[in-house]
Amino acid sequence: MKFDLAFAAPVMLALAIPAAGAAPAADAPDGGALFRQRCQSCHSVTPGQNSPLAPNLSGVVGRHAGSTGFNYSSALKASKLVWNRGNLNRFLSGPAKLVPGTRMVVIVSDPQQRAAIIDYLARTGH
Ligand code: HEC
Repeated sequence: MKFDLAFAAPVMLALAIPAAGAAPAADAPDGGALFRQRCQSCHSVTPGQNSPLAPNLSGVVGRHAGSTGFNYSSALKASKLVWNRGNLNRFLSGPAKLVPGTRMVVIVSDPQQRAAIIDYLARTGH
C-alpha cells in the first residue's frame, strides 16, 4: 500500500496539470453567444440591416458614435465619442454614466463578458 501511494501521487499530479491549464479557455465567455442573448433583440450586425429599435453594430469598433442612419438621442449624437475598445467598455458598464441621456440601457456588469462582446464586435463589418 505504501508503495502504491508513492507511485500514484505523481501520476495524479500529471493528470491534474493539463486539466487546470485548459480551464481558463473553457470558461472564457463566448462573445457571439452573449451578443445573441443580450444585444441581438435590438441590434443587428448584418451590414445594411437597419432596425427601428437600435443602430446597426457591424464594424462599430473605431466608428464615431451616432454615425449610422439610426434616429439617435441628441445625447449620443452630441457625445463626440469614438467607439474604441476603452469607450465601448465604459459604455457597456453603464451607458448613462458615459452618455447621460442615452436611450441605450443595457448594462453588462461582468468585465470578461464585456471584453468578449467587444472582441466579437471587432470581428464584424470586415
Ligand atoms: C432594448 C434594446 C437594446 C438592447 C438589448 C441593446 N441596445 Fe445598444 N442601443 C440601443 C439604442 C436604442 C441605442 C441608441 C441610443 C441613443 O440613441 O442614445 C443603442 C446604442 C448602442 C451603441 C452605440 C452605437 C452607435 O452607433 O453609436 C452601442 C455600441 C451599443 N448600443 C451596444 C450594445 C451592446 C453591445 C448590447 C448588448 C450587450 C446592446 N447594445 C443591447 C438599444 C439596445
